[in-house]
Parts: sequence; C-alpha cells; structure tokens
Amino acid sequence: MVFSGCCGVGRVFGGPGRSGPGWGRVWVVWGGGCFTAGSGGFYVGGVRTVCVSLGERSYEIRVGSGLLARLGEWCRDLGVSRRCAVITDERVAGHYLGRVMGSLEGAGLEPVAVTVPAGEGSKRWQVVHRCHDALAAARLERRSLVVALGGGVVGDLAGFVAATYLRGVPFVQVPTTLLAQVDSSVGGKVGINLGAGKNLVGAFYQPRLVVADLDTLGTLPEREYRAGLAEVIKYGAIADGSFFGRLEGVMGGLLSRDAGVLEEVVARCCEIKAQVVSEDEVEGGRREILNFGHTIGHAWEAVAGYGRWLHGEAIAVGQVLEAELSCRVVGLAREVRDRLEGLLERAGLPTRVRWTGRRVERLLGAMRLDKKVRDGRIRFVLLRGLGCAEWGHVVEEGLVREVLGS
Ligand SMILES: NC(=O)c1ccc[n+]([C@@H]2O[C@H](COP(=O)([O-])OP(=O)(O)OC[C@H]3O[C@@H](n4cnc5c(N)ncnc54)[C@H](O)[C@@H]3O)[C@@H](O)[C@H]2O)c1
Repeated sequence: MVFSGCCGVGRVFGGPGRSGPGWGRVWVVWGGGCFTAGSGGFYVGGVRTVCVSLGERSYEIRVGSGLLARLGEWCRDLGVSRRCAVITDERVAGHYLGRVMGSLEGAGLEPVAVTVPAGEGSKRWQVVHRCHDALAAARLERRSLVVALGGGVVGDLAGFVAATYLRGVPFVQVPTTLLAQVDSSVGGKVGINLGAGKNLVGAFYQPRLVVADLDTLGTLPEREYRAGLAEVIKYGAIADGSFFGRLEGVMGGLLSRDAGVLEEVVARCCEIKAQVVSEDEVEGGRREILNFGHTIGHAWEAVAGYGRWLHGEAIAVGQVLEAELSCRVVGLAREVRDRLEGLLERAGLPTRVRWTGRRVERLLGAMRLDKKVRDGRIRFVLLRGLGCAEWGHVVEEGLVREVLGS
C-alpha cells in the first residue's frame, strides 16, 4: 500500500497545546499541493519561534543569534529544580560549555558538566552508564534538567540518558550542528547504537525546549556544515516546493552562513519537521517521508564503512537515486530530479558514486536490513512532484539494481 503525504485539502492543524506567549498563533493550512503556508514560525519577544504541537508534550523551538546567553533564564522558566546537568562532547565543550554554564548559573541554576568524547562512538551503553553515574553523583532528582549541548550524537545520547534516568527527567536540546538544528533535535527520537547497527536502542522522548543558537554554526567545520545542507534540501523536496525554490535562490547566502538567511531557513525546516511530527509522533505513517533518500543513503553509509561518509553526504546521493526511482515508478518529472541534483551539487555535496556489481549487491543486502522493510520487501519514499512525497512504495529489486548501477 502506498501513502501520500500530499495532504488533505484545506486541513488545519497545529494550534496550541498549552497556554503561553505565542501559543495559539501557529495554525497552518495545508492546501491541495503540499504545505502552502509557513514562513518559519513567528516572533515571541524578538525570537523566532516554532511550535511542536503534541498536546501536553508540546514545546517550542527558538532560533536565532545570541541565544546561549538567554538559555539559563529559559531553562529556569520551565519550573525545574536548581541542580541540573549539561551533557556535551569534548570539542563542543571547548567552544561553548563556559558560556552555557555561565548562562545557567546567572539564572540561579546549579549546573554540573558531563563531557563525553566527540563522535558516533559515544552513542553506546558504556557512555550512557557513565552519564547516569554522573547524574546520580550530582544528586539530580526527578525535576532536574538535562541540557544536551552539541550535535546529533550528544542530542541522541543525552536525550536517551534523560529518558531513562529516574524513569525520565526533563531535557532541553541545544543543537550546535546544522544537522542537529534542522533535524535531530526536533521530534523526540533519542537513542544509541549497538554492535549490530545504528540507533537500535532508543525511545521517543520529547525535549521541553529546543534552543538553536545560529552563532554556534560559526565554528562548525565546512564538511559538517555542508552535510547538514543535505537535510535542508530534503525538506524542500519532500514538503514544500516553494521553499525548494527559495533555497535555490539563497544557496550563496547559506554557503556563506549569512545569519539572516540561516534564521529563515533553519526555522522553516524546523517548522516542516514540527508539522510532520505533530501529525505522526511515533512514525506510524506520514513521518516516514522524512526518510526520503535514507533507504539508499543508510545502506551506503553501512557499506562504505561508518564514518567514511558523513550521513548528509550519503543521503545526498540517496536523494538523487531515489528521485531517479521516482521518475521511473511514479512519473516524477525529470526536470525536478535534475533540479534536486543541481541544488545538492551547488551545496558542495556528492550526488553520484560509481558502484561495481558486487557493491550493488552489498547495497541491496544492506537495504534489506532497513527498518522500513516489511516482509522482506524494501520500501521507498518517492516523490510524485516537488514538495510532494509518498511513503510505502515497494519497488521491484531489479529496478533498484538497475538504478544503483546506472
Ligand atoms: N534523533 C534524530 O531524529 C536524528 C536525526 C538525524 C541524525 N541523528 C543522529 O545524529 C548524529 C549525527 O549528528 P551530527 O551530524 O550533528 O554529528 P556530531 O554530533 O557527531 O557532530 C559532528 C562533529 O562536529 C563537532 N561539533 C558539533 N558542533 C560543533 C560546533 N558548533 N563547532 C565545532 N564543532 C562542532 C562535534 O564535536 C563532532 O565532532 C548521528 O548519530 C545520527 O544517528 C539523529
């Protein structure tokens, strides 16, 4: 069965899950195409704000410059205990830990810092145990806050630690990579890896607040930054054709990390993810569209050897190939596929890899382990048009083999 993300006409959703400044002003209408409204949130107290509407688990994403200075006051306003913990990695700590600790202390909180090694290797049990021990040693209690300061690795790890310590303590995401700001910090997927594969242990556990300070992107290495752009472009491809066009227009500003462009783009990406998550929190349906490019991308990450390709680089190639599948299976216009490839190239991302026959078979093998596989059949998210994705497409393996080898 195939499911269309191309929306109920005139459906209205979003809206307030609780009272507070700004809540109640985020109604978004889907039109006959895809998202028709959406300028990337609204301003509350001068800060660009996007809401994730999940009833009593609703929360805000605040996007802008200079936000670390206000983090302490915002955390305090969540009504948490004074004692709290900041989990971060060694590299991020060198840049931002002092500022975050100062902001929390300035608001009357008593933070302890827990620093883990940088990189994917920290998403494992031993590190979770060490974090739990550190929280217990600092006598954190049920209302104590965990702040995740870092990229997707720290967010996934710290979120999982928060979800499991004392059966769940509140946590706040402070994402410092582009990928984490537009993707991993929003939506509540937290977890760690096993030897058998990535993200095999985890939970859906929503943060209480996400604070995306764009200034932190200033120290992000170029390759990491460009990898984040793959997810940015994906949002346009799957959910908003006019946003995709906008990205084509502002790619220069994005590459130079222009603050105004970044604020608009990061907020719009968060808004799209927030809308999808609000509708399907635990990925029982529509949330699957966020996996566009990931069936092939994840397989390539595994076959190439984890760490050799950044996630964003692998899903850039995956998006182009899954767009090619879309042309052949659901009649996506070739011009759309070419625009997607062109924009990814302009972002400095790889879009093609020459794979030998053996590599293609290994890729197919890796895809059969994909979490979207049902009854052994590989399922894809395909584009019917720009901004219009469908999930649950079973594509005949011979065709997949042909596209991978093309
Ligand atoms: N939970 C989700 O929904 C979700 C979605 C997508 C990806 N993820 C996960 O996210 C992880 C990848 O995240 P990532 O790409 O952010 O990688 P990362 O967290 O490993 O960060 C990349 C590198 O950049 C460094 N860094 C981070 N911020 C920096 C800054 N501002 N300045 C300088 N250096 C900085 C880090 O120390 C690290 O070395 C993966 O584990 C993936 O599974 C989760």
